[in-house]
Amino acid sequence: METIRTDVAILGAGGAGLRAAIALAEANPGLRIALISKVYPMRSHTCAAEGGAAGVIKSDDSLEHHFNDTVGGGDWLCDQDAVDYLVQEAPKELIQLEHWGCPWSRELDGSVAVRPFGGMKKQRTWFAADKSGFHILHTLFQTSLQFPSIQRYDEYYATDLIVDDGRCQGFTAIEMRSGQMKFFQAGAVIVASGGAGRMFPFTTNGAIKTGDGMALAYRAGVPLKDMEFVQYHPTGLPNTGTLLTEACRGEGGILLNKSGRRFLQDYGMGPETPVGKPVLKTMELGPRDRVSQAFWHEQKKGNMVSTRWGDCMLLDMRHLGEKKINERLPLVRDMAVSYLGVDPVTDPVPVRPVVHYMMGGIDTDISAATPLPGLFAAGECACVSINGANRLGSNSLTELLVFGRRAALSAAAYLGAGVGAANDAALAARATEAQARLRELFERTGGTETIAGLRKEMMATMEEHAGIYRSGEGLKQACATLADLRRRYAAIELHDKTNVYNTDLLQALELGAMLDCAEAVTVSALARTESRGAHQRLDFTARDDAKFLRHTLALYRPEGAPAIDYRDVVITRSPPGVRDYSGEQK
Ligand code: FUM
Repeated sequence: METIRTDVAILGAGGAGLRAAIALAEANPGLRIALISKVYPMRSHTCAAEGGAAGVIKSDDSLEHHFNDTVGGGDWLCDQDAVDYLVQEAPKELIQLEHWGCPWSRELDGSVAVRPFGGMKKQRTWFAADKSGFHILHTLFQTSLQFPSIQRYDEYYATDLIVDDGRCQGFTAIEMRSGQMKFFQAGAVIVASGGAGRMFPFTTNGAIKTGDGMALAYRAGVPLKDMEFVQYHPTGLPNTGTLLTEACRGEGGILLNKSGRRFLQDYGMGPETPVGKPVLKTMELGPRDRVSQAFWHEQKKGNMVSTRWGDCMLLDMRHLGEKKINERLPLVRDMAVSYLGVDPVTDPVPVRPVVHYMMGGIDTDISAATPLPGLFAAGECACVSINGANRLGSNSLTELLVFGRRAALSAAAYLGAGVGAANDAALAARATEAQARLRELFERTGGTETIAGLRKEMMATMEEHAGIYRSGEGLKQACATLADLRRRYAAIELHDKTNVYNTDLLQALELGAMLDCAEAVTVSALARTESRGAHQRLDFTARDDAKFLRHTLALYRPEGAPAIDYRDVVITRSPPGVRDYSGEQK
């Protein structure tokens, strides 16, 4: 097996990975940086982010407001020291992007424009029309090209972290175009491989978001933290699950039930606000957990609109007018027309909640370090935690910039402190073991299970039992089904035994990662007998701070369900309070 020696190996070349690579190259031009991704960087899921990135910039706003919105929005499960770091660094990162060429939308006077976003009580979401992620990703990518020390390895699939002497020293990965396995031997590893929304059948997430990096860290002994908190975005296209950005509502769009009522006023998000202006009152700008939960209740009451794509609510933007829609929401219009045949200029668009984001992920501290020396993580795959029980829209693009950079600085400092000599023979042995595991899967015959069959069962289980509302009974059933699916996974057989772009093999590996992540979600959710943020239990309807003002830590066990442990939330100055979205924002 070929060994590629590098100082830092970054797994994932989306926003967090690219930001980390640039920060490393700037911090120390002498470092060798390997940027490894299962897709070409421009195909990373950051590209799909639409609405924008949060950072205080206007004179009526403050870091304290951003802190309070984030901590309250997260139902007090955020680590407050990490939130402080996020809000302080956010404006610097967004201005840095501007300097690198990000085409932020502007106000008429030429200053950076910001728009209202859900749960944010001040306007602080920077945007580039409704293609913010696309522009951020391109800005980072083009910037990364100026650093010769960043060596890209596109279309590699990582299979195992290599741990020796109690520290992470690289990972093995399949080069997709040849089918060859390579060992990236590194002084430090940064995982920036995105989330795992594809565990669910209806999601905004691209097909690549299969929890690969989360599973790698988990199997190497790093806990997955707060995995029970899965975010539903209220407005997905009902047939494809494609995101219709919260910016539709930030710009003044409204949500209507079948009686034409702005139903959110019935769920603690009133009073009704004037139609047509982006006003900073709650209503359609409530936090995502609450808005999605309102959809669920409306469905139970029979208030949804019946469409040929199923039960929906209507997102009405007609009053915004064609000029504004074209200027601020061009992608939204394009997608609604292309996928539904509905033009938001002339008709309301059917929408329904859709799985969007994992608040949980690889356990990291405020410096983006995991408990495994040499391993760092940033972006959606990580749980710092700044999102707590419910992320506010537009904090995640900011998070991947702030903590992508932070992971890089921490990795550079870790290397600078000296990591000791590598035991080449021991590392080679570990890499060979990883290769043998892969070969066993590749050469297996007589399999009785199909990848598609198991994946379908996993998705159905997650949708039925781990959705917007959950119950103990349902979660128990989901845990049992997932345990069974993990067992049956050992009986899959590949039907494509060729080497070049073997998507059968990749899908098998992705399924393995998703099954591990899915089990962490359901076991963590079953153990959290309270309702908080995006985790709502029908059998435990109240928040229970006495018992659960704590992070869940799911610890991997090769056989059987994960062990569950807890860690106290870091509270610095905002004790748990009431989440009030009922009035005018101050
Ligand atoms: O609605 C959106 O544009 C999504 C933003 C986010 O998830 O941060």
